[in-house]
Amino acid sequence: MTERKPMIAGNWKMFKTLPQALGTARELVDLLKKPPVADVMIAPAHVFLQPLFTVFESTYVALGAQNVFWENEGAFTGEISPPMLTSVGCKYVIIGHSERRQFLSETNENIRKKIKAAIDSRLIPIFCVGETEAERDAEKTFSVLDKQVRKGIEKFSRDELKDLVIAYEPVWAIGTGKTATKKQAQEIHAFIRSLIEKIYGNDLAKKMRILYGGSVKPTNIADLMGMDDIDGALIGGASLEADTFSKIVYY
Ligand code: 13P
Repeated sequence: MTERKPMIAGNWKMFKTLPQALGTARELVDLLKKPPVADVMIAPAHVFLQPLFTVFESTYVALGAQNVFWENEGAFTGEISPPMLTSVGCKYVIIGHSERRQFLSETNENIRKKIKAAIDSRLIPIFCVGETEAERDAEKTFSVLDKQVRKGIEKFSRDELKDLVIAYEPVWAIGTGKTATKKQAQEIHAFIRSLIEKIYGNDLAKKMRILYGGSVKPTNIADLMGMDDIDGALIGGASLEADTFSKIVYY
């Protein structure tokens, strides 16, 4: 069967204050005492990375960032570089989230640069792709995803991409309570994996983890995880409460 280790990742987006972030992180560590089957990650806001690292160190929870810039240092006011993230204990970084594509002018070209810079600093990118509702209605889902995937990871070596994680997050399913059905998600995941196979060959395609994101909850995780090409989940709303997230981790 699959040689891919499942992954359950929480994206806290722009939620919580420092005391709230610390409280949830501590609760989560208490709830995740039993070794999970999956790799577990939480991505809090940048300002909470360092304090949360002190809570997550030597636990089953790894730390991720929600964004990164593509240069290592320089006059780029307000940006955060890959070496800054690794220096506070980050292992993963979410890149190209649809909210950043929609509200922060994230382009496929910038996303590729960020993925490259992250890999060069040994951060594991969680590269997000997904179609909007209008694109799905216009039957453009496959062409949109084809372009996002190709542009985001073009001209890498297979070795550079060996740990990359892709997250398929249909925009119409994010925060809406509308989850893609397990069949809809599986169809897209299989399509993305076949695309990776076309570009980089079967070995990499077989190894690459593809997560699903969009209204994942304790009640639908097991069904999604039962599908051949779904290797985990990227969770927004349901990751904000330790109890709910821990139920997803031990699906
Ligand atoms: P929700 O789980 O709140 O739908 O968010 C998904 C998401 O965008 C994770 O990155």
